[in-house]
Amino acid sequence: MRIVLVGPPGAGKGTQAAFLAKNLSIPHISTGDLFRANISQQTELGKLAKSFMDKGELVPDEVTIAMAKDRMEQPDAASGFLLDGFPRNVSQAEALDEMLTSEGMKLDAVLDLEVPEDEVVKRIAGRRICRNDSSHVFHVSYKAPKDEGVCDVCGGELYQRDDDSEETVRKRLEVYHTQTEPIIDYYKAQGLVVTISALGKVEEVTVRAMEALKRKDDDK
Ligand code: AP5
Repeated sequence: MRIVLVGPPGAGKGTQAAFLAKNLSIPHISTGDLFRANISQQTELGKLAKSFMDKGELVPDEVTIAMAKDRMEQPDAASGFLLDGFPRNVSQAEALDEMLTSEGMKLDAVLDLEVPEDEVVKRIAGRRICRNDSSHVFHVSYKAPKDEGVCDVCGGELYQRDDDSEETVRKRLEVYHTQTEPIIDYYKAQGLVVTISALGKVEEVTVRAMEALKRKDDDK
């Protein structure tokens, strides 16, 4: 399957993507994680991305689309992928459509995670991620690591993302409403959107998501 995951910052996209990708045997492709990997490796792309991410703004389309395309062209993504954080505006969605059409492929579903804003703020405020691998995500109360400040998966140090400050989160939410939400209508016009509530326990949301994706697949 080729799936796009959409939802506000802190909705649980990364958390759900890890389980969904495993269940569906497809790679989880997160543009945020790709940028963070570039930042920790201090590449030129990482330096450029950080200057936008720290302000809560989108990294320019040109570099984002090129990076996403490069990742989607890797052999492990040949028969499907779960995109998390891409596309993030209508021009990225159009670029993705062009990319897929030129290869004779198309998306199967756009999974929209709905969470009220006060919950999103709580989730982001308590989020801690691993320095070794930003896909290892914890929460100080909802998913506390066994040892405070230490990643359960690999023993790495847990830290708070630079863009998780209150001011930057406010900006990220504004960018989500103005630039990212319009892609939901863009994909609704293609009949691809399935919306689920992302409230409740992580595993409950995963079950809800898997059922919604199955219904979408059965409708085809
Ligand atoms: P990105 O990394 O994509 O961030 P985001 O979309 O803002 O989403 P988050 O990672 O903040 O949240 P999430 O939904 O993954 O939630 P999570 O699972 O961690 O992007 C960061 C930046 O990169 C952007 O601002 C932009 O600058 C740049 N960028 C990225 N892609 C781009 C693009 N395409 N174009 C341009 N720029 C781009 O969960 C949050 C917390 O909640 C965790 O602590 C988790 O443990 C907890 N949690 C999760 N689920 C539950 C639950 N059900 N109950 C309780 N707690 C939960």
